[in-house]
Order: sequence, then C-alpha cells, then structure tokens
Amino acid sequence: MNKKVYVGMSADLIHPGHMNIIKEASKLGEVIIGLLTDEAIASYKRLPYMNYEQRKEVLENIKGVSKVIPQETLDYRYNLRKIKPDYVVHGTDWREGVQAKVREQVIETLKEWGGELVEPEYTKGISSTKLNQSLKEIGTTPDIRRARLRRLIKAKDTIRIMEVHNALSGLIVENIKVNNIEFDGMWSSSLTDSTAKGKPDIEAVDITSRISTVNEIFEVTTKPMIFDADTGGIAEHFVFTVRNLERIGVSAVIIEDKTGLKKNSLFGNEVTQTQDSIENFCHKINMGKRAQITDDFMIIARIESLILEKGMDDAITRAKAYVEAGADGIMIHSRQKEPTEILEFCKIFRKEYNDIPIAVVPTSYNQITATELSEAGVNIVIYANHMLRAAYPGMINVAKSILEHDRSLEAEKDLLSIKEILELIPGTK
Ligand code: SPV
Ligand code: MG
Repeated sequence: MNKKVYVGMSADLIHPGHMNIIKEASKLGEVIIGLLTDEAIASYKRLPYMNYEQRKEVLENIKGVSKVIPQETLDYRYNLRKIKPDYVVHGTDWREGVQAKVREQVIETLKEWGGELVEPEYTKGISSTKLNQSLKEIGTTPDIRRARLRRLIKAKDTIRIMEVHNALSGLIVENIKVNNIEFDGMWSSSLTDSTAKGKPDIEAVDITSRISTVNEIFEVTTKPMIFDADTGGIAEHFVFTVRNLERIGVSAVIIEDKTGLKKNSLFGNEVTQTQDSIENFCHKINMGKRAQITDDFMIIARIESLILEKGMDDAITRAKAYVEAGADGIMIHSRQKEPTEILEFCKIFRKEYNDIPIAVVPTSYNQITATELSEAGVNIVIYANHMLRAAYPGMINVAKSILEHDRSLEAEKDLLSIKEILELIPGTK
C-alpha cells in the first residue's frame, strides 16, 4: 500500500523551497498537504496575502500533491492522529523559533504509530520572509486591502489598530513589530487628521481633504484602514462617503450617533452634544449599507450613550437597533478612567450577539490590555490618537530648546540623526 506523507504548509507565496519539500515528500508516498487556515497562520505570524481557498487552489495543481486538507491550528497533532501518516516532511527551518515546540510534538505523536519525521535541507537564498518584504515594497490593490479587515477579524481573537495622520505615521504602523506582534491596521482619526491640519475636530476638515490624507497613507502602506467619518453627515451625503472610501480600499467606516455640530466625545457633557434618534441613525446605516458595492466593506455603528451619560440600557437598546438596521459592527465608546462600563456592555451585548464585532477606543481607560479586552469579547482595539500625541511634545520641546539656546546643539540629543533620516525612507540616496 502507498505510504502516507503529511506536509503542513501556509503556502502563501509559493517558491522553490516549497517545491523542494513537495518533491522530496512525493518520493516517499502519497502527499497530503495540511494547509494552515488563516486562523492557524495568524496565531503565529502575519495573515497570508491569499485566503485559504486561493492557497488551496494553487496547491492542488502542483505536481506531486494528491490531497489538500485544512490544518486548523499550528499544532499538527489533531490532523496527525486522524491521518496517521507514515511520514511528516518539513524543512529544517522549524528547528528554531516559534515552531520548535510544534516540531517536538510532531516527533512525539508520530511515535504513537511508528511514523517518521523527514527534514530536507532548508532551501537557501529564498524565503517567504524576504518575499513578503518585496511584496510590501510592490504595494497592494484596493480590493486586497479592503478585504483584509474582515479576514483579520475572522482569523484573530482581537486586532490592534493604530492611529495614523500622514504617510510617515502610516509607515511606522506598517513596519513596527515587537515580540512578533504588529498592528493589524490603521485608524484615520477625525481628531488627529483635523489637528494635524490645525483645525478643530468638528467636521470642519471636509471629506475630500480627509480622503486625500488617506490616499497619501495608502501610497506607502498595505495594511487595512478603519475610517472615522464622525457623524457621517446627512444620510444623503453619507452614501457618497461610503462609495468613495470603498473605492479607494478603506475596509470600514465608523459613524457615531450624534447630530448637529459634532464635538469630540472625550469632552463628554462639558460641551453641548446631541445624540441622534435611533430611527434617524438606523436610516443612515441602512442607506450606507445599500450604497456599498462589495461584500467586504463594513459600516460600524458607534454608540455615544455612555459618553453622554444616557445609561447602559440606552446603549444596549441602540446596539440592538443598529445591528438590526444592518451595522456590521458596534463601537462602544467611554471616557471613564476605568473600563468597568465597557466590560459590562460587552457582557450584555455578547449574550445576544456572538458574531457581531465590537470595537473599543481605550484612551481614558488605558490600563486595560488588548489581551484583557479580547477576553471580554472585544474584536477591535483602536489606539485612536497616540501617534500624533507622541509627535507633538517632541516638536514643542525642540522648538523651545532652539530659541532658548539660540542654537540647535542642545536639541540634537532628542532628534533622529541626519544619517538616520537619510536612511529612513528607501530610495533617498
Ligand atoms: C477620533 O480619534 O477622532 C475619535 C475617537 O473619534 S475619540 O477622539 O475618542 O472620540
Ligand atoms: Mg473622531
């Protein structure tokens, strides 16, 4: 009988390294590919460019592959026990790093029926990591970028979104990585886009100007974006905003249930702010949903009840109404110092709606971690203003120092060096 050979793969950017593994595996018997799902891949690295179905189609047409089945976790054990292969084939690259433990488990599990691990030498000179870097340089398309947010929400418990207000902040969010964790996408904040333009956050920066900022950011990044559209304006205008954002590749728009002259939520009742009626706001959501062309674009309804001290019942009533009107997600906002009311909202809302994404903006209750919010059922954590708030004090201090000392020598220690700035953007030289 033909021997069974199991090969676990992400197979996003197929290169000669993969071909070599498949070729070696097919020498041993019938090759079954355990194709890692988006969820499995996102549990330890960046979401693949191609979705599961696309990756499966490519693999099924490669010579030597007899079957492609899903592997739903990075852990091989479930599939291995189901299939009981004679061999598992994997490149030597997994001996170190995040997969080292998985490799140990594979060896242990194979022992249960006398299977064997075969590790062909890792193909040098080519790697998915390098190809990924090149792909980032090539960029992305509106369709791929737009679809990425829904894929990320589906693949991960919680995604981390960071504020951007220009191309440079976009580049930082695109590339920064700590302990293998990176931001999943960007937030175009009305507060920081307005502030960067020297205007108040009262919908005074018009949508054309807001979209021009987004275009500049999109020119140099590939990650998905959630756009803060304030109140969305009147429903008849909102439909144009939806079409526009969708066309350029924005993944989601968030509109808040306020009406009249919009003021920033973090003022709370210090300023006059009026909440829209449920009926009007549902109408706006509904018009927006009917205007969109793709299935990927999302309209997220933002509830201001807690900001305006209207109570939890009002927040929940509105959440239900907005979901019924077609909202693809709910953003619940709070300006409390503690996350208590946000956690309470999540608990009540989750009893009724399991699948509707919840977004939060933990600016004032900043002690809670994204991981803790995730445990409470939050899907999208937005750090709404932090890049601009970081930049401003730096600029003020340096400007003051130069005036105070009548020269720039003293400020130099707080600055990016000239060498660093010249090397920051590839192609400067
Ligand atoms: C923004 O970033 O503009 C927001 C979030 O709308 S908040 O400023 O907290 O209202
Ligand atoms: Mg805003």
